[in-house]
Amino acid sequence: MKKIVVANWKLNPQTLEEAKDLYVKYRAFSREGNKTKVIVCPPYIYASSLANLAVKTGDPKVGVQDVFFENSGSWTGEIGPSMLKNIGMSYGIIGHSERRSLGETDEVVNKKVLASLASGISPIVCIGENIRDSHGDYLSFLKEQLVKALNKVTVKDLKNVIIAYEPVWAIGKKDSEAITPRDLRVMSIYIRKILSDIYGQKEVSSVPVLYGGSVSQKIAQNIIEEGKVQGLLVGRSSLDAEEFLGILKITENSKS
Ligand code: PGA
Repeated sequence: MKKIVVANWKLNPQTLEEAKDLYVKYRAFSREGNKTKVIVCPPYIYASSLANLAVKTGDPKVGVQDVFFENSGSWTGEIGPSMLKNIGMSYGIIGHSERRSLGETDEVVNKKVLASLASGISPIVCIGENIRDSHGDYLSFLKEQLVKALNKVTVKDLKNVIIAYEPVWAIGKKDSEAITPRDLRVMSIYIRKILSDIYGQKEVSSVPVLYGGSVSQKIAQNIIEEGKVQGLLVGRSSLDAEEFLGILKITENSKS
């Protein structure tokens, strides 16, 4: 399976020029035969301009940070999946914890996932516990988030789904506070088990599970190789060209 590295730029950078400059630097990584797929998710307003700068193969892919659950109608300020598809987008982050903290529920996340799939946008579905308790309640919390997010997603559509495991306690911290590769391995097996129970092991083997939360060059290799994930969702480090290109190189050369 190709590795996937998603750059989540959040509310950055401030100008289109800066966004283009970063994208062009990441484009230098894009080569036919790469083992890593790069998906850059800028703020909406930069998305088409960046997609126009892609190389012939369409790389790096450009995605968005949210996708609304309706395609048209009286929804002030929203952007729907078919509009995104029409400007050439194929990926959208859905259910990021920073959106959930603004009130997005599991039900809304599910509606967004279903609407995206129906329009040909691959959802990058974010799940992650807020805290880790010693009783293991976070495991059932995570299971509920995942099951609810994928409610009514068919086996056929599952092949277009990407899961991003992002423990909220590990986002926006120092890399030394990210999850340990060993704990990540347990979580990645756990997530696959939940999916397998619903869809069957064979179907789930092609679903990428990514990790997000304070990823840097320093920890990327262990996270991928020991953590047994198929890629990364990178926030702050994706705004620093040298750091992000380093992460891409590590991912490309990873042994797993
Ligand atoms: P971070 O963000 O890499 O800055 O921790 C990750 C995310 O929120 O997706």
